[in-house]
Amino acid sequence: MAEHVPAPSKLDTSVPHPARIYDYWLGGNDNFEADRKVAEATVAAFPGVVQAAQGNRAFLGRAVRFLAEQGITQFLDIGTGIPTQGNTHEVAQAVNPAARVVYVDNDPIVMAHARALLRGTPEGRTAYIEADLRDPDSILKHPDTLATLDFTEPIAIVIVGTLMFIRDEDDPFGVVKRYTDAVVPGSHLAVSHITADLAPETMEAAAKAYNTGPTPFTPRTAAEITRFFDGFELVDPGLVAVFDWRPDPDEGPSPVTRQAGLYGAVGRKL
Ligand SMILES: C[S@@+](CC[C@H](N)C(=O)[O-])C[C@H]1O[C@@H](n2cnc3c(N)ncnc32)[C@H](O)[C@@H]1O
Repeated sequence: MAEHVPAPSKLDTSVPHPARIYDYWLGGNDNFEADRKVAEATVAAFPGVVQAAQGNRAFLGRAVRFLAEQGITQFLDIGTGIPTQGNTHEVAQAVNPAARVVYVDNDPIVMAHARALLRGTPEGRTAYIEADLRDPDSILKHPDTLATLDFTEPIAIVIVGTLMFIRDEDDPFGVVKRYTDAVVPGSHLAVSHITADLAPETMEAAAKAYNTGPTPFTPRTAAEITRFFDGFELVDPGLVAVFDWRPDPDEGPSPVTRQAGLYGAVGRKL
């Protein structure tokens, strides 16, 4: 773990936080003035950001449903976000009521809402851990993880809309490898990630507005994001704009595909 990684903090509403900024874009109520200031400045710089946030959330739902339909019953969802519609366990348990999910986030406000994440089916099981993605041991060896997930069976590692908050100096590729090394072949990895490949000018403007806070994002290229899937084979259609990843038939072609600024992919461990 990098030395400057802070321990999960107490809730400080005067400092903007990614979970609450995202909540604002999704129309939630768990955001504060500091979050709204950054969120609105980002909208002014990149009006497509609200649709991008919705598209990211929709990708999460489709990816989890796909994984559950493939027979995956266990999920490690890191960077969970504030509970909203279509939480991972709801989507997975709608396919398989016995699905089990461990949720992880480092924003104390998510912990405050964790009860919503812990209400699942009687056959399934969910757990919530407040921890930092950059400290894999604190997650992989946590008693609640070990009590909920069986590491001798395939697990889906879900890190959606979160890896861009891991700076290069915190070794995002090494961090993700710790998780992907911990699971058996047949396990899956689902990732979405901000990129400047699709709409470079708007992404630059968005970064300028968003990155005034203490948790800046780092856009990454398709080649960089594909590196997270080292040792995995991408399922169709590969790494694409989140709107284009197995869209539901009634969604139709997205008018904001190129504006999305977000790639999504799902891979299977070889
Ligand atoms: C944009 S939200 C995505 C939420 C959800 N995965 C989704 O796609 O709808 C990013 C989440 O990652 C969390 N996050 C950011 N950095 C993190 C870290 N180092 N460790 C754990 N969670 C982190 C934030 O608190 C936030 O809830």
